[in-house]
Amino acid sequence: MKILVLNGPNLNLLGEREPNIYGDETMQSINDEMLELGRGMGYEVEYFQNNAEGRLIDRLQEARLDCAGVIFNAGAYTHYSYALRDAIASIKIPVIEVHMSNVDNREDFRKISVISPVCCGSISGFGKYSYYLAFYALNNILGEGK
Ligand code: DQA
Repeated sequence: MKILVLNGPNLNLLGEREPNIYGDETMQSINDEMLELGRGMGYEVEYFQNNAEGRLIDRLQEARLDCAGVIFNAGAYTHYSYALRDAIASIKIPVIEVHMSNVDNREDFRKISVISPVCCGSISGFGKYSYYLAFYALNNILGEGK
């Protein structure tokens, strides 16, 4: 079973981007740790990051055919992309919404997520551990995978 870790705009700049908010670890080092975690649960893990909304939609549509579930940090698209929301609603596999920062104690516009209602659940505010917690959540939903 494969889990897709999908990251949206600007998350490729982790480690460099606003380290006071997102920390100083790169996406590569977080991905490496997730690979270990996922493997330990018996999953294959694939990463995809893109800054373009359409590419994220394409990957979500493909995921319905080749993945058991998705861990998704949609970045700023979270707050206004109805197209991503519709893409998530269009596929039957579970999607977990993830944010590294606590979106509820930042600017008002970040308090709105248009994708939350179509995701299984949301994890926000734990830095890289938000992704790790999402693995546990997905593993539980998928019935301990394997
Ligand atoms: C983010 C929060 C979003 O508001 C922001 O636009 C991001 C990252 C997070 O992981 O905390 O790009 O999704």
